[in-house]
Amino acid sequence: MAKTKIAFFCRSCGAESPKWMGQCPSCREWNTLIEEKVVKNKNERLDNKTDWRSVNDSPPGGNKPGVLMGKGPRPIQLEEVVAGDVKRLESPDRELNRVLGGGIVPGSIVLFGGQPGIGKSTLLLQLALKIGRKVLYVSGEESEQQIKMRADRLGGDKRQCYLLTETNTSKVLQHAADVKPELLIIDSIQTLASPHVDSMAGTVSQVRECAAELQRFAKESGIPTFIIGHITKEGSIAGPKLLEHIVDAVLQFEGDRNYTYRILRTLKNRFGSTDELGIYQMDSNGLREVSNPSELLLSERDEDLSGSAVCATVEGMRPMLVEVQGLVSAAVYGNPQRTSTGYDSKRLNMLLAVLEKRAGLPLGTQDVFLNIAGGLKVDDPAMDLSIISALLSSAMDVTVPPDVCFAGEIGLSGEIRAVTRIEQRIAEADRLGFKRIYVSKYNTKGLDPDRYGIRIITLATVRELYEALFA
Ligand code: TYD
Ligand code: MG
Repeated sequence: MAKTKIAFFCRSCGAESPKWMGQCPSCREWNTLIEEKVVKNKNERLDNKTDWRSVNDSPPGGNKPGVLMGKGPRPIQLEEVVAGDVKRLESPDRELNRVLGGGIVPGSIVLFGGQPGIGKSTLLLQLALKIGRKVLYVSGEESEQQIKMRADRLGGDKRQCYLLTETNTSKVLQHAADVKPELLIIDSIQTLASPHVDSMAGTVSQVRECAAELQRFAKESGIPTFIIGHITKEGSIAGPKLLEHIVDAVLQFEGDRNYTYRILRTLKNRFGSTDELGIYQMDSNGLREVSNPSELLLSERDEDLSGSAVCATVEGMRPMLVEVQGLVSAAVYGNPQRTSTGYDSKRLNMLLAVLEKRAGLPLGTQDVFLNIAGGLKVDDPAMDLSIISALLSSAMDVTVPPDVCFAGEIGLSGEIRAVTRIEQRIAEADRLGFKRIYVSKYNTKGLDPDRYGIRIITLATVRELYEALFA
């Protein structure tokens, strides 16, 4: 029996509402509700609704036989649960293993989000070819020939990789049940359509239904499932946001398309930490793991130019050294410009105000440009100290010595504040052969300077930094 109704869905969180509203009652976003026609064919779907009344009606202290017994799981004491050793599927991609918390968990469902063209299909096709196990790669985006061409570029073993270009979820799941792969890859959730919902692929109700069907399949079959989901800037297609609570892990693939670095970040992970980070480089034959990001990021540095400083930053849990470039020049076109690439521009404005007030640097008539080299986006407050150094260096046209790096946050009164994971930062700078690192004087608790070859110099204020480097 098919039933049609009109419903309104929030593009941001997926909440359903019977009428249109300006603000989503669930996530409080404005103007996100869109109208969709929903046809649900209840007969075709497994309806596993629980009869909650029988639970309440049953007498306390025991189950009434015949009402609940044998109907799926019943509550058991946590102590009784056997925590069987979950055998994770090791992937050949060490960065991915790290991000997933040590391999692929059976029956888990992982969402790979990212903007179109960033390399999601490449990453997962490469995994399918190199994992050495039976994989079913379902694509609704590209033809078999296109995928074959890409696979030829990527190399690897093609015999274990099965390809299916299909967008109907019921058929996809039937084929998956026949093929019995050890990993199922869906490229992408926006192209799938479930026959149980009568709306176009990519709409909120479709994305939600397809994800729910895939989740049920993954949990029942134990086949880990990787789903690709596009994020669009304006979100006219239902974004992966609304899938976040359905899936076990959400990984975001990000990077600047003009650069070769790609970062795989964990936004949610039920089986591991969300602080992990994978770094790749996009080559002509696929994505290459980058195990030493600092060496790559610093490789193009010209050491005798002013306006450059190196920060010992931490991304996720990985320390890495990045170069900050600043340019301060007289504004010739009226209003001075402030441009920041890879760093929060509001934070840059704050740092400029601190420089003006606490270091006496007149910047009101100067253009200021800031760039994080390598196309990286960093939001570590420890960058502050290196940014101030780069800007001072450019303004005064004095180079910062090439073997010096920084790690410190700047407060509004020009004080230099402590940052997290200072030992890791110092150790990484030491490993890369830096001779001096400037840190906050409040950051030395429990630090043993004799452990490192690098000299640790402590500072309290921006003024002290100025005197140490440029006076
Ligand atoms: P793709 O995986 O199709 O992106 P997504 O699935 O996220 O939309 O990646 C597309 C880009 O990657 C494309 O611009 C070309 C580039 N690329 C390489 O540079 N090298 C390669 O070996 C491959 C396969 C792609
Ligand atoms: Mg793709």
